[in-house]
Amino acid sequence: MHLIRGVAVATALVVSVFGSAHAQSPESPPDTMAERVLACAPCHGAQGEGTRDPYFPRLAGKPAGYLFNQLVAFRNGRRHYPPMNYLLEYLPEAYLKEMADHFAGLNPPLPPPAIPTVGDEVLALGKTLVTQGDASRNIPACTSCHGPSLTGMEPGIPGLLGLRPNYVSAQLGAWRYGTRTARAPDCMQVVAGHLTEADVMAVTAWLSSRPAPAERRSVPQGTYALPFACGSQPQ
Ligand code: HEC
Ligand code: HEC
Repeated sequence: MHLIRGVAVATALVVSVFGSAHAQSPESPPDTMAERVLACAPCHGAQGEGTRDPYFPRLAGKPAGYLFNQLVAFRNGRRHYPPMNYLLEYLPEAYLKEMADHFAGLNPPLPPPAIPTVGDEVLALGKTLVTQGDASRNIPACTSCHGPSLTGMEPGIPGLLGLRPNYVSAQLGAWRYGTRTARAPDCMQVVAGHLTEADVMAVTAWLSSRPAPAERRSVPQGTYALPFACGSQPQ
């Protein structure tokens, strides 16, 4: 369903944005940022705040380096979602970097926290895994990299609040099954590989039930040391 509807939306947009009113040839991408991000708004919101679709992620306020890495990953096929792979296919890196900077600079409010649909025990397991990990199963605390307030760290580590459970569990699943990869050493692949289905459900339920922190910005690079290396986060 998603893919079919998404392809239709993206195709319609590519035709309308790249094709016409601005006297541009179909090969030349639109020039202003407002025009460029028109194609993103139906799925990600005009301010990158996300939409009602539980699978379309928020972009606003994520570190620019992280967003840029994701755009390159979609363009180069490291991440798979056909409408996005298609939209970004021929775009040069400078253009992707400007779009990443644009969304990183926006800061619309986070959505209200989700009302949990799981029991208290599951939420408690989620909280423990996120804030303490489970050393006996080699699971590091998510906060050890995503930050004590889960707002992420510049330039490569995203915050984990304001994302819907379906999106988060799909991403963890994609790492577990190898359909999403990041630059080596791919620390998220290691982390996700230690999680069971039950862990994923607990972690995503707890994360999405969290209220927005007062300060939503990612902390500066080097604010804390990571427990082990991530290829996408220079130390
Ligand atoms: C048809 C819907 C659709 C359109 C149009 C679209 N996206 Fe996406 N985008 C998605 C979905 C769905 C995902 C998550 C895919 C996955 O599972 O990895 C995504 C993921 C992303 C991510 C990664 C987010 C993260 O937190 O890792 C970025 C960055 C992004 N999109 C930017 C853009 C930009 C910029 C545009 C416009 C040029 C755009 N997208 C257009 C649906 C769309
Ligand atoms: C060793 C550091 C590290 C640890 C520990 C860690 N992460 Fe990550 N995480 C990262 C990095 C780096 C990225 C960005 C990867 C990329 O560029 O695609 C990331 C990305 C993510 C994303 C993608 C967000 C998005 O918008 O698509 C999710 C979801 C995620 N982590 C969840 C978790 C959870 C849940 C835990 C705890 C069980 C965890 N992470 C522990 C480093 C870490």
